Amino acid sequence: MINSDAKASLAAAFTTEFGGSPDAIGVAHGRANLIGDHTDYNDGFVLPTLLRHQTRVAIGFRDDDLIVGKSDNFGADQRPLDSAVNGGWLDFVTGAITVLAPFGGKPVGVNVVVQSDVPSGGGVSSSAALELALLRALIAGQGLAEIPAGDLARAAQKIEHDFIGTQCGIMDQMVCAAVQPGQAMLLDCRSLSHESIDLFSDHSFVVMHSGSSRKLSQGLYNQRLGECEEACRLMSVVKLRDASMGDIPPDMDEIITKRARHVIAENQRVMDAVAALRQGDAAQFGALMLASHQSLASDYDVSSPELDKLVDAQMNAGALGARLTGAGFGGCTVALCKTDGVDALVASVSTACPDAYLVDYISN
Ligand code: GLA
Repeated sequence: MINSDAKASLAAAFTTEFGGSPDAIGVAHGRANLIGDHTDYNDGFVLPTLLRHQTRVAIGFRDDDLIVGKSDNFGADQRPLDSAVNGGWLDFVTGAITVLAPFGGKPVGVNVVVQSDVPSGGGVSSSAALELALLRALIAGQGLAEIPAGDLARAAQKIEHDFIGTQCGIMDQMVCAAVQPGQAMLLDCRSLSHESIDLFSDHSFVVMHSGSSRKLSQGLYNQRLGECEEACRLMSVVKLRDASMGDIPPDMDEIITKRARHVIAENQRVMDAVAALRQGDAAQFGALMLASHQSLASDYDVSSPELDKLVDAQMNAGALGARLTGAGFGGCTVALCKTDGVDALVASVSTACPDAYLVDYISN
């Protein structure tokens, strides 16, 4: 959903840039993952929810084959539709037009305006939000038939794999495609079956940016994927989803052992967290979040000094649990506390971590 002010601002920006009105708009939210990180590309389980922050896209079709784009965050750019990817943000637009071909999408030139308040490089899925917003605008503008959430998420993931270069899992695209704000989604990343679960009624998930953006994350992310594949090879399983702790050979390489241990334990923590959420047991949920952070930091090596410091500060300020969210290597944490304690938590944390700031808090 887009509110009327945001819609007017998007249309006005389009008119200023290109004249006339857009042919279609598309919107998608950023996400915070509550628990279950680096499990999705291992066919495991995740429990993300949506932020209120959105990426909004307006498009107008052209008579030539140019893509002409203006983004609030990434500036203006243009190039022919068949240009090679070059690391610029128009790679997302080329990708979105291309992956819609199997659904009847036409390779046509477009004018594009993007407005977004999803922090980029924050681990809150600004990429997937842009992908889904672009796809939704193109689907509406070209009058294509509705695409089921799983297929839409796979198409968005293909943009990431083939045009951006991150061999990401399916979590971000699937949560952007299938969830309503105010709910968490338990997603089985193998079957893509998913279920919406209400959040706690009197507790909130507080998303704070550590003040330090994700660094060198693409190469390190793909490296983790390779380490998990190596673990599967050594343990003779298809994916780490299929392994249990007892399958880890005692003489397996130490790094590979740590990666496997994180993924196996994290899948179980997701299931335990879902049980805690259903029982309204915020203390247990919080304890699982903290265990998840410790595992991401020590076994998966994807935390950073700023993220660790922020998690410590949130725990010292009375949070029931806190963890990095998303890929790690910088970006955001998510913490759990009483809804009427959010302001006090943020104020106390800001003293200990002056560069950190509140992104959003999410409750039922
Ligand atoms: C990034 C990827 C997701 C997932 C997370 C870590 O956000 O896009 O697919 O792997 O990292 O859980």
